[in-house]
Amino acid sequence: MDVSRPRCSLWRKLVLVANLLACGILQTSGQISIVSFIGIEGYRSYLYLESILEDVQEYSWHRGVTDSEGNMIVSYKPPSNSWQSGPMFSGRENVTSKGHLRIRESMLNDTGNYTVRVDVSNGTYRATSWLEIREKESNPGISTNTTSVVEYMDPVAAFCHTNATNITWYVDGIPVFSNDLMTISPDGKTLIIHKVSRYNKILQCALENILEFPQRSEQIFLTVAYGPDSVWLSSDPMTFNGILYAELGSKVEMKCSSSSFPRPKYHWIHNGSLLGVSEANITLPSLTWEQMGRYRCIVENPVAQLTIYREAQIRTRPGKCPLFPGSVPIVRRDFYISGPLVVFLIVMTVLGGVYLCGILVYMMISRFSTRRNRGI
Ligand SMILES: *[C@@H]1O[C@H](CO)[C@@H](O)[C@H](O)[C@H]1NC(C)=O
Ligand SMILES: *[C@@H]1O[C@H](CO)[C@@H](O)[C@H](O)[C@H]1NC(C)=O
Ligand SMILES: *[C@@H]1O[C@H](CO)[C@@H](O)[C@H](O)[C@H]1NC(C)=O
Ligand SMILES: *[C@@H]1O[C@H](CO)[C@@H](O)[C@H](O)[C@H]1NC(C)=O
Ligand SMILES: *[C@@H]1O[C@H](CO)[C@@H](O)[C@H](O)[C@H]1NC(C)=O
Ligand SMILES: *[C@@H]1O[C@H](CO)[C@@H](O)[C@H](O)[C@H]1NC(C)=O
Ligand SMILES: *[C@@H]1O[C@H](CO)[C@@H](O)[C@H](O)[C@H]1NC(C)=O
Ligand SMILES: *[C@@H]1O[C@H](CO)[C@@H](O)[C@H](O)[C@H]1NC(C)=O
Ligand SMILES: *[C@@H]1O[C@H](CO)[C@@H](O)[C@H](O)[C@H]1NC(C)=O
Repeated sequence: MDVSRPRCSLWRKLVLVANLLACGILQTSGQISIVSFIGIEGYRSYLYLESILEDVQEYSWHRGVTDSEGNMIVSYKPPSNSWQSGPMFSGRENVTSKGHLRIRESMLNDTGNYTVRVDVSNGTYRATSWLEIREKESNPGISTNTTSVVEYMDPVAAFCHTNATNITWYVDGIPVFSNDLMTISPDGKTLIIHKVSRYNKILQCALENILEFPQRSEQIFLTVAYGPDSVWLSSDPMTFNGILYAELGSKVEMKCSSSSFPRPKYHWIHNGSLLGVSEANITLPSLTWEQMGRYRCIVENPVAQLTIYREAQIRTRPGKCPLFPGSVPIVRRDFYISGPLVVFLIVMTVLGGVYLCGILVYMMISRFSTRRNRGI
């Protein structure tokens, strides 16, 4: 214990990072030394033994600057792979197979001097080191200036409440940096997302002082209203190029779907008139002539104030003139004629035919007679 100097080692790289850390004060006696780091209350702390000794019989750790039996915490005998606890054992310490002292759930009063004694076959080595346990910095707080936004429209500002300097922001669990979509203030405490998307729902900030102990804030969940992006109209029978061919009397179903949050409102328009249907689907159990024509399904997101629609036209198959028992005769697919009118039309057609024939006969006779007159 004659040499006393601060020393940094590989452990530093392996275990902890940067600013909160101090290199342990190292005290050596020939071939062994101890490296310790500042520990954090509630977390695991280590006193690392650096040793090139072989054939170790026993590692024993003690509180204070001596290796007296009354100060013993715990010891480990590699030959028999056995552990023994001492008077200063609190139940949280143990010696690793390499001789390191591990303290779990560190307490502030674990702070103090620690001495290790290493017995090898031809002698004994001792080293003492100081361990410091610090209070855990409280987790950062987080707040936002709003929690309800419309996608690609509204900005949101989030604030990390801490006195620490190394702040990392997480959006949906992924660390973020200033970019086109968001800005982090120079002190790191404010994150502004200029246009929130549906994928930016969970915000969190964290202190990254010590990698082993990330201290994260609560998560803030944003409610992002989005869509409808597009609307699909599925139907039975199927719709091709906006046309749905169906037989009169058959069942027709149409259903609108879209992705939107909150759930959108639906409206249906038939031949320009609003129908009293506010569901995504519409069912026509037995198609009539009046139900033919143009249908428009309107999808509205009242929060995002976005509305889109899709149309389909119900028609009968071209060239088909279906007749149904009990229904009126169908002349063409886009108009129909009542029974008395049909009779009237037939009569008129017959009369017109007779009239036309009369004219034809008259013309032929008169032309024939003129020609004959000219020839004479
Ligand atoms: C130390 O840990 C070992 C297992 O790694 C266990 O067998 C032993 O009982 C522990 N010793 C003490 C004193 O807790
Ligand atoms: C350390 O503090 C805890 C309670 O916080 C107590 O139970 C324990 O006895 C103390 N240990 C020492 C060595 O003073
Ligand atoms: C720890 O040891 C150092 C030197 O070995 C000594 O100056 C200091 O007073 C000790 N601290 C305690 C709390 O025993
Ligand atoms: C014990 O033996 C090792 C070599 O095996 C030697 O380096 C060391 O100095 C010896 N220690 C003592 C105290 O004699
Ligand atoms: C939240 O903060 C951003 C950025 O400062 C601002 O553009 C936005 O209007 C604020 N929103 C509310 C609801 O105050
Ligand atoms: C920051 O430090 C000030 C004074 O040093 C203290 O009043 C305040 O509570 C601290 N804030 C946080 C979030 O720790
Ligand atoms: C923040 O942490 C990095 C390592 O993660 C370190 O290099 C830097 O010095 C720290 N900055 C402050 C201000 O603590
Ligand atoms: C929509 O479909 C459901 C079942 O899929 C049905 O119960 C409901 O009556 C339909 N609504 C309309 C307006 O057709
Ligand atoms: C809608 O238009 C179609 C053809 O364009 C027609 O067959 C149908 O009777 C009309 N229905 C209503 C209720 O206007």
